[in-house]
Amino acid sequence: MPQRIKKAVIPVAGLGTRSLPFSKCIPKEMLPVLETPAIQFIVEECTAAGIEQVILVTSKAKTAIEDHFDLNVSLDSWLKTRGKTALAEKMERLGRLCEVISVRQKEPLGLGHAILCARPILGNEPFVVCLGDEIFPPWTQRPPILTQLVEAFETQKASLVGVVQVERSESRSYGIINIGQATLSDRPVKILSTIEKPAPEKAPSHWAIIGRYVFAPEILDELARVKAGTGGEIQLTDGMDKLAAKGALFALKAEGSRYDMGNPFYFVKAQIDAALRRPEIAPQIQAYLESLCR
Ligand code: G1P
Repeated sequence: MPQRIKKAVIPVAGLGTRSLPFSKCIPKEMLPVLETPAIQFIVEECTAAGIEQVILVTSKAKTAIEDHFDLNVSLDSWLKTRGKTALAEKMERLGRLCEVISVRQKEPLGLGHAILCARPILGNEPFVVCLGDEIFPPWTQRPPILTQLVEAFETQKASLVGVVQVERSESRSYGIINIGQATLSDRPVKILSTIEKPAPEKAPSHWAIIGRYVFAPEILDELARVKAGTGGEIQLTDGMDKLAAKGALFALKAEGSRYDMGNPFYFVKAQIDAALRRPEIAPQIQAYLESLCR
């Protein structure tokens, strides 16, 4: 039986150039949907999948993320003395959501390198990786793709990655998988190879890797051997390609909405979708949207 997955790695060291000037002083992972930062959706997605320990791979100027998951005793007691008990309890639950540990990625050497920075804490356990740009809020898919990947790992006993269909013209933005077939069912499918950000004419399929992965610990040995690839960086996709070559990597199709918070369209869509699910503002937002279409 494979071990139950308890650890998640969330790389958050990136500069977030797509979100400047916001991300000049504030981590891009703190971009909110209404009042909830993206990183909170991701950590909640992790705890819903049974994760107990989140390892942030971080860099300078990212301490706001660690503070967000800490207790703020003076804020909680201030809220309580003013009778805002429900809000105080909500803040306390956030501070106790799970254990959050940080390790530094001292040089920007790529996603594969970021995962390797967490190796001393990961030990020889399977783990999940969630990328901080993409969120799958609770309304998007039941059960969430991360939970499905964790459950599939328990039966499949091999590493898995969530994938979505993209236009071939978008291949330069993603890791693309080769599965030797055009369609995917609802079950995990063996991946034959993976390639990071290929030109459209070199893309082996329409299926793109999204930022949700479950790995057996052997990925760490593969990553330690990977040489700098696309963009001069140590690419996670190149380590995954080695697993695929051994028949030890599977893809699972993700359904529902995914929001790339660094993309202005998805950022705005996330606000609208969240607001339309909030009873106290939904009618006002809906009336406003309808007025734009008249
Ligand atoms: C990373 C990965 C890529 C994956 C993508 C998903 O790229 O390297 O394989 O498809 O995330 O968002 P990035 O977006 O960090 O350039």
